[in-house]
Amino acid sequence: MCGIFAYTGNTGKEAGKVLLDGLLSLEYRGYDSAGIFMPDAGSVKSPGAVAELRKKVPQDFKGKSGIAHLRWATHGEPTEVNAHPHADSSGDIWVVHNGIIENFKELKHALEKKGHTFKSTTDTEVLAHLVEEHLKTEKSFEKAALAALNEVRGTYGIALQYKKEPDRIIAARMGSPIVLGLGDGEHFIASDPSPILPHTKKVVFLEDGEVAVISPDGHSIFKLDATKVKREVTEIDWDAEQAQKGGYEHFMLKEIMEGPEVVENSLRGRLIPEKGLAKLGGLESVAKQLDTIDRIIIVACGTAAYAGQAGEYMFEAETGIPVEVEIGSEFRYKKPVINERTAVLAITQSGETLDTLEAIREGKRRGALTLGIVNTVGSTIARETDAGVYNHAGPEISVASTKAFLSQLTVLALLAMFLGRRRGMSEEKGREIAKALKELPDKIRTVLEQREKIEALAKKYVHSRDFLYIGRKYNFAVAFEGAIKLKELSYIHAEGCGAGEMKHGPIAMIDENFPTMALAPKDSMYEKMISNIHEIKARKGPVIAIATEGDEEIAKLVDDVIYVPETLEMLSPILNVVPLQLFAYYVAKEKGFNVDRPRNLAKSVTVE
Ligand code: G6P
Repeated sequence: MCGIFAYTGNTGKEAGKVLLDGLLSLEYRGYDSAGIFMPDAGSVKSPGAVAELRKKVPQDFKGKSGIAHLRWATHGEPTEVNAHPHADSSGDIWVVHNGIIENFKELKHALEKKGHTFKSTTDTEVLAHLVEEHLKTEKSFEKAALAALNEVRGTYGIALQYKKEPDRIIAARMGSPIVLGLGDGEHFIASDPSPILPHTKKVVFLEDGEVAVISPDGHSIFKLDATKVKREVTEIDWDAEQAQKGGYEHFMLKEIMEGPEVVENSLRGRLIPEKGLAKLGGLESVAKQLDTIDRIIIVACGTAAYAGQAGEYMFEAETGIPVEVEIGSEFRYKKPVINERTAVLAITQSGETLDTLEAIREGKRRGALTLGIVNTVGSTIARETDAGVYNHAGPEISVASTKAFLSQLTVLALLAMFLGRRRGMSEEKGREIAKALKELPDKIRTVLEQREKIEALAKKYVHSRDFLYIGRKYNFAVAFEGAIKLKELSYIHAEGCGAGEMKHGPIAMIDENFPTMALAPKDSMYEKMISNIHEIKARKGPVIAIATEGDEEIAKLVDDVIYVPETLEMLSPILNVVPLQLFAYYVAKEKGFNVDRPRNLAKSVTVE
């Protein structure tokens, strides 16, 4: 997820100011690096967010049009040279891009053979060179851009500018959002309407596979095959903040709703389904060493540690490697027994959590191979680990982690396949996991469609003082994650518990005012879960069950049911956690609390 913004006008407005101000409202989309290009003034780029870029922009940086970008790094470290906009060899064609060009390696290789030299390690730069190459044969900038776009595979929202035609800018959309802003003598391209709204309320949303050209006085839209398209103009009545949230009331809800795309992005380019293989480029350099590993210690905090718990079960079942999960704050002080055949794997959204970082350093000091599953490219943990896998979940703004958890579980499943296939997992098993992974985004959509029902349940249970969450096996971790979501957002006391462990204490709390959320999918633990639910019902405890679609029986036993589609047992946490995230969200909303910023908590905890 990156933010792009482009402007062309003849109103006398200073394009540099319009672009820099606009980038500020896109900052929620990325803050690894920022950059701007204006044909009249040149380009300026900087690591960090907009404030850093502003410091570098000279006083005389003036013009009538330009393109700008905020980067959430995917390919390549968040350095100045990797910051957008990127140019072709001649420095005439400039591009800003949000998305991933999947076939960039092949394209880059072919272009290098034709004499193109690349400055950055990004996938994006290939686009500028590809347009340059097509300009040699095509008659116009537009046609060259179309020809180039027809060659790329992947996702993009882009803005392209040609120095020799400075007042025209081309936009294109495939999988990443693009909106055009239609002003009087000025036009805009952006990732969302927020930077456009201070100038005009009239916008046009592009659809996938569409290309647009804007100039100060107008716009035109066509498809990749050059046929013309007419799109309706929408009058936006949101304010800029609502626009950043995509029209959702809170970032948390937006991030939960992004679940299907997040899982798609974590999987993108990493599965060879027909061979049942997972391809994890970030682990190639240590693949041989991984074959000698006889123990994995997962270190993490909070939600990431619960993802780790589910990962432990996946790894032990699918790879045969013994796994332990350690909370970062404990591990760093416990004098762990580690040798060079141990891998210490950090799971972290921010890549900056101090306890997780120190755990990795402790592992390193003791000779372990250190690995990371990290969402933030170029973060300290990403840099200090020997190798790793990025989540590609995009920036998570809401303090309570939701979409990052889904992506962590997805990457853990990929890693279980990657390691498993090197240690005797059959091709058939690999194919089965790959198929189930690919089906997940649609299944998550099915769960998200039940939002209203979950909101009604939240209203029903909002006055509860306590809540118990129970699950077994893969859903043991989900019980804890569900409980932490509820307590951190709504300040209701909520406890996660292994359903089998309940009889050793927590069951004493159960009465008619103490509800339980029971994770009871139709898997190998189903019968046991049903027995545990009976134990609660016998003590008059209200029960909400998360159950598999079609399980009519459970509805007779419990008070409320939320159904989720069936999937492989090891992947079921990815579906089962979604209703729990929504439930916690709606309870907190109903109570009128600050959902995105719960009291006393921080997004990135860089203290002990
Ligand atoms: C904080 C956040 C949690 C997060 C935890 C670990 O407590 O509020 O949502 O799970 O830190 O953060 P990390 O960035 O390492 O995943």
